[in-house]
Parts: sequence; C-alpha cells; structure tokens
Amino acid sequence: MESSKNRAMPLPISHNQTHHLLLLILLIIFQVSTCFLSCLAQTPVGYGYKIQSITSHNSGKSLTADLQLIKKSSTYGPDIQYLTLTASYDTSNRLRIRITDAKNQRWEVPQDIVPRQTHAQPQYRFLPENHIVSPENQFPDKPISDLVLTFHNTTPFGFAVSRKSSGETLFDTSPDRSNPETFLVFKDQYLQISSSLPKGRSHLYGLGEHTRKSLKLTPNETLTLWNADIASARTDVNLYGSHPFYIDVRSPSGATHGVLLLNSNGMDIDYSGERITYKVIGGVIDLYFFAGPTPESVLDQYTQLIGRPTPMPYWSFGFHQCRYGYKNVSDVEGVVAGYAAAHIPLEVIWTDIDYMDAYKDFTLDPINFPVENMKRFVDRVHQNGQKYVLIIDPGIGVNKTYKTYLRGLEADVFIKRDGVPYLGQVWPGPVYFPDFLNPASESYWRTEIKLFRDVLPFDGLWLDMNEISNFITSPPKPSSNLDNPPYIINNAAIRRPININTLPATSLHYGNVTEYNAHNLYGLFETKVTNVALINVTGKRPFILARSTFVGSGKYTAHWTGDNAATWDDLAYTIPSILNFGIFGIPMVGADICGFSQNTTEELCRRWIQLGALYPFARDHSEKFTIRQELYLWNSVAASARKVLGLRYRLLPTFYTLMYQAHKKGTPIARPLFFSFPRDTNTYDINSQFLLGKEILVSPVLKPAAVSVNAYFPAGNWFDLFNYSHSVTVKSGQYVTLSAPADHINVHVREGNILALQREALTTQAARKTAFNLVVISSSSTNSTGEVFLDDGEEVGMGEEGGKWSLVRFSSVVVGDRVSVRSTVLNGEFSLTQKLIINKITLVGLKKAKTVKEYNLYTGAELLPKSGIRTSLQSHGEFSIVELSGLPL
Ligand code: GLC
Repeated sequence: MESSKNRAMPLPISHNQTHHLLLLILLIIFQVSTCFLSCLAQTPVGYGYKIQSITSHNSGKSLTADLQLIKKSSTYGPDIQYLTLTASYDTSNRLRIRITDAKNQRWEVPQDIVPRQTHAQPQYRFLPENHIVSPENQFPDKPISDLVLTFHNTTPFGFAVSRKSSGETLFDTSPDRSNPETFLVFKDQYLQISSSLPKGRSHLYGLGEHTRKSLKLTPNETLTLWNADIASARTDVNLYGSHPFYIDVRSPSGATHGVLLLNSNGMDIDYSGERITYKVIGGVIDLYFFAGPTPESVLDQYTQLIGRPTPMPYWSFGFHQCRYGYKNVSDVEGVVAGYAAAHIPLEVIWTDIDYMDAYKDFTLDPINFPVENMKRFVDRVHQNGQKYVLIIDPGIGVNKTYKTYLRGLEADVFIKRDGVPYLGQVWPGPVYFPDFLNPASESYWRTEIKLFRDVLPFDGLWLDMNEISNFITSPPKPSSNLDNPPYIINNAAIRRPININTLPATSLHYGNVTEYNAHNLYGLFETKVTNVALINVTGKRPFILARSTFVGSGKYTAHWTGDNAATWDDLAYTIPSILNFGIFGIPMVGADICGFSQNTTEELCRRWIQLGALYPFARDHSEKFTIRQELYLWNSVAASARKVLGLRYRLLPTFYTLMYQAHKKGTPIARPLFFSFPRDTNTYDINSQFLLGKEILVSPVLKPAAVSVNAYFPAGNWFDLFNYSHSVTVKSGQYVTLSAPADHINVHVREGNILALQREALTTQAARKTAFNLVVISSSSTNSTGEVFLDDGEEVGMGEEGGKWSLVRFSSVVVGDRVSVRSTVLNGEFSLTQKLIINKITLVGLKKAKTVKEYNLYTGAELLPKSGIRTSLQSHGEFSIVELSGLPL
C-alpha cells in the first residue's frame, strides 16, 4: 500500500514530482493541517478532538485522519487520546467513515456477519479541494459519487457528508460548543457522535426494533438498542432485535439516503428532530452512508452491504396456524380438520413448546405428542400438501439423561462464565446456551437437527427466545465494568441493568468474545448456523422464523414481531413494525394475527385477518391462557378469511415475485407509501396503510365498529382488487372515504400495472396448478408493466445461474383501439416443464361503458390459442386484443 504522510513536515516533493495530481492533494492537505496546528496554539474551547494530520493512501483513494484529544473529560471513564478516522468510497454510492482507537484494536462486528472491504482496496478516489474531499470527474473511468465528505476546520473537529447534486447536507457532526451532547466522544465504554439535521425537511425511518405508533421517528425520542425479551405489546422500548440503520427522506424533493452505524454494542440513539446523537457503550464508530437517491435504491445499496434477503419457500407465503397451548396431537389434528371443513386455506400447522418432553429441544412429549402419532400426523399433513413447522429455543436443558445436552457438553459448545458453562433458566428449568459463535456449534447443531428430523420430518424451524431470554438474572461481578458499564443505556425504558433477564455481560463466547460485545448478535448467529444446517440436512431452501435479529439477519431468516396483544392498538402497530423490518432488509415479516396475549374478539380477529392476510408472513398465533382464535371459530371471521385469503392466494405469484425482487435488490415486500411516491410529502406520515410491492395499496380498518376508512391515495387511478369496476381517481394525492363493511378490506392497484394472478385454492400447491389470469391495468400516461418469477419454490437459490426458473416480463401498450400485451421470457424452459398457461386476460381501466373486458385466450389447459393468438409463459409472445371498444382512461 502506498502511503504518503504529512504531519506538517516538509513535503517529500521528490517523491511526488511525477504525480502532479497527488502533489496538489498533498499541498491542500498541508494547508489544512497547518491551519489545525495554529488552531492548536489557541486555547482549546472545550472538550473534543482535533485533526492532527491527514494521510492519503493509494494515491488518494482513501484518507486517514489522525485525531488527538484536546481536552479531557472523566465522565463515563477515561478518554482515548488518539483516534484514527478512515474514509473511503466502497462503491460509488457508499461512503464509509470509521473512527477507532489509533493504538489498540477494538471489538467490531465480525467480518463473516457483514463482510466489508478493507481500506486497502477502495475503488473511488478522494480529491481534496480546499478542505473538501470529494470524488472528482478527473477520473472519467470511475463512476462519480453523489456523496461528498467535508472536514470542518473547527476545534473540536467535525465532518459533514453532503449530496453533491443538490448541495444538501446529509450528516454534519460539527459540534455546538454550548452543548456537550454534540461532541465526538471516544472512551472505552462510551462513544458519542452527533449530527445535526435540517428541521422539518429531514424525515427519519428505521432504528429498531421497537413497537411504535408512528413509522416516522418523532422528535424527542430515545431509541435504545439492546436485544431483550420484552413483549412487543409495549411501545417505545427496546425489543428483540437491533438495527442501527435509518433512511432519511428529505422534503420536498423526496431524495433519500441511508445511514448505518455498524456496531453491535448496546446504545441509545437520541433523536430531537434537529439532531441525531448516538451513545454507544463499546465497539467503534463505523458509519456507512448510502446515496440513494430513492428509497428503493437505498435498500439496494444497504442490502448490497449487509446481505440480500434470503429467499423464502413458495409454501411459506400460504397461511400459517399456530398456538401456544395445543394440548396434544388430536388437538392439532382437529385444527387442521377445522380449516378443511371451513374451506379456509391452511398451508402450515405449527407446534409451540407444548410438543416437547419437559420443554427439551429435539424431544417429543411421550404422553401428549408421542412419536408414532406425531409421525402419522406429519405424514397426513404432507399428504394434504401442507407443511409442519416447530419451535426450538436456544436453552438446552441441563439433564444427565438428555442426549442433546450430553453431546453439547462433549463438543464443548456452551457459552461460559468463569470457565464453566453459564447456567441460565428457561422453559426446561436450568439450561446451557449453545455458543453459535463457536465453529464447533455448526456440526453440533446440524447433528441435532438431523437426528430429530429423521424422526419427525418438519419443514421449517421457529427460533424463539434468542435475545437471549433468561428467566433469571445472575449477580454482576462487583468489580466488572462489563456487568456494570459506566453509561447505562435506557434498557426497558427504565435504564435497567443490561444483565437483567439475559446472560451476564461477562459471559464468554468462543475466542474470548464477551457477551457485552456479542449480545445483540446471538440471534443472528443462531439463524446463520441453523440456515446452513437445514440446507445441509434437507437439500432444500430453508424456512426459519426468528425473534431476535441484527443487521444482516435477512440473509438467513424471516421474522415475526413477537408478543403483541389482542387489542385494536396492537393491530394498528403491526403496520409500522412490519414496514420497519422491510427497511431492515428482512422482508418476510408478519405479526401474530388476532393477537398473542389477551383474549381476542370476533370483530378484532375479523379485522385482523383482513389485514394479516396481506402481511408478507401470515400466521395466526396466540398465548396459552387466552381463548382459542383459529379462524373457523366464528362464522364472520371464517367468511372474511375465505375472502381475503382467497385474494392472497390469487396474489401468490405477486408475493413470490416480490420475494424474488427483495432477494435481488433488497426492496421490501410490504412498503411504506413514500417508497413509490417519495415526492408526495403527505405519504411521509402514513401509519395505517401500506403498499405491497410498488403499487398495491392496502387500506385496512383498524378501529372497532368502523364501516368506512379514510384512506390516502397518491395521484392516479386506483382499482379495487375485489371488484375492478370500483375505482378511485385522484388528480393529486388525497384522502378518500371508502366503504369498509364488516367483511371487507380495501385493496387497490394503481394504473400502469400488470398482475399475473392465479386461482385461489386451499393450499399453495393446488393454487400453483391453476391457469394464470393476466390483469392489465391500463393507463393513459404510461405503458403498463409487470413481471412474474417462477421456480419450484424450494430450490436453495432463487433465480441463480444454473437454477431452474423463469422470469416473465409483461408490458402493454394502447395504440388507438388496440391493446397489445407483450411478454418477454428469461429461461423459458422452467415454465415449459410446468405447463404454466395464461387462460384469461382482463383489461382494466378502459374508458367506455365497459371498464372491464375479459378475453379468454385459451380453452382450459390445452395450449391451443384461439384465432391464432399465442399466449404463454414459455416463450416471448405478443398477443393483441382486437375488437376493442374502449380506450384507456
Ligand atoms: C415466547 C414467544 C411466543 C411463544 C412463547 C412460548 O413468548 O414469543 O410466540 O408462544 O414464547 O414458546
């Protein structure tokens, strides 16, 4: 690595004579540095760091600034005197700024969790201009970043990131000298960095996991990140996962960028509306700025770094039924039968901890869930074309007759404290916790999964309690500043000690990694190891549902929002919660439909299934001591379930194609309205509606006794998916009162889309065999487009080279009185083998009396086109609709 240092020493001119450009850079840096030296001569105005020197590496491709403390403070422990700031463009749209101890290595999120470039190979150059450092167009071979880094010529030091194209400042750490909360602080157990934000123009989303009334962050809140088993029915407290990532939508332009602080330690993030301040109890400051400028492109750039969402099996988009408290096999069998009798689709039946023998993982209760009956039961479920998922908790019961425990001891895979496995308490009583950071845990866990799956062929795993939840709190070590850190984060919203109901921070993982540092990573590591194990054992695409998550968990798992309550408020909160996980790169997410704790009611459960049927992940789940809430138990709920799950199953190809898009580009399945309409500032505050994909708008009823809903529609023509002849037309975005009788949820699709629907059925397998109905929603302003991704739904990769899949893109054009629909097919062989056909094209959005026209182009499954028109999912085709009487609106 080439490195040219400048510490206000004579410049090594000879070194650079041949490199005019580099000389220019160094001269400018020299000027900046001497200024900082003269600044040092003045009395320091307060606590903070100053820039001592700036070093350029690799001919200016990355920069290192040496920072030195100018005034000490003893609050939260001694300061670290010398820091190194490194800045680099990892890609043209990603700027990384990392600040750490110049002399000692510190804990960082492991590379295998979020692989990141070392600063030795950045791909974009910095070119200082004054004290501005930015990529410049002198490098025509390199794409130009829109992100500009500026070092402020101030004491204490600060930096800013701005958007070159608009001049807008995105992040600015210039300290406000009257406010110590704004200073950069770097101590062993307390890091602080603060940025000002333009009041009223910056709209922040993300920073979770929390249950919130509002998706958008509201001024004067503290967001705490420390994974904890706290019921999600509680608002505004830290919950099961940690995602120090936000997106910032700027009004009025809608230009959006993202900011990640890649750090796994506990933290508080104070948001005042005009400022965001991170207060972190360890690690390093590793900031990533994603240029966007659209919400979709930010997610693309974010998941490029943290990992693309893992594909989910096709069947997992069906409807799931679960309950804590199923008594025995016949109870569960009765539930499956109940769904069948009521003609409500049921794809997956789940069992909670009840199936286990004394709550021990990988065992069956010999009395209530005996192995032979369970085998028969799972066989029958599979014969029906249904699936079975079961729960696994991380705590392994300490019991000398329990093989999983004995094998764990032998493999020495448990988390330790004081040199022996740490003893916690969960459902089985005393437990040890496998250390998924330990490479030995991989074969241990794989073996346990395989042995149990050989007995009972389950289809997916539900990983609960992995925050880690512990029913006891072990005493802290009196002298340990890990168990008792100097800064107390706002854990559980009462600044409760970090050790409460989890493992003590002084517990040790593999490689002497402290629980203090790795706490927030446990769930992520567990899903990673389980994902690999399931692929190994089944050879199929795994399905995992995890409660605890971190940055990058989307690579391995789906998520549900945890223990909500059967209340109308909780119903409403599910929307912000689900949308947040889309932003966190975990698009397969849902909430317990009809509510987990407390008794639900018929009306609440009815409204909940109407909404829940459109969650990316749709599962009814309830707590042991509540009334039963399977959808067939009330006639009105059953009727709603048939209607809305009917729509879900017709939309399965859309859900699955959205999964494909999420896997390739990180775009969420369920999205806030501003994702598609970032210039419509009214969308920024919407908490009660969402989009599926780009333009399917879901507007649920969230209040008791309501029979109408006040729904916001961005500009355009929107068509009711239950009845295309009902439409809403708004010239500019506005609220519209829609009728929402007891059995109805409003779902609209915008003009310009083409949906490939299938028929409803009781299982996804049956639905997949039905012919497609292409719904073309015409628009006078744009051509209509749509796409559908097809594969067998369970091959490990999704749309990978060498895989068996097809992608069919549709577009339609209206010319005069003709609508032409064209399809282009990528990898047609797969759809050919599946004999997938379109047997109906529905034209929506046409002007004249008939707004809906239906054309049957095929008769049944015979691939015989009428009047020579060729329509298929196998090859490129063009099908023109003749004799068309209408024109687009
Ligand atoms: C936790 C889970 C819940 C589950 C229960 C029993 O509370 O969040 O979903 O039913 O444990 O396993």
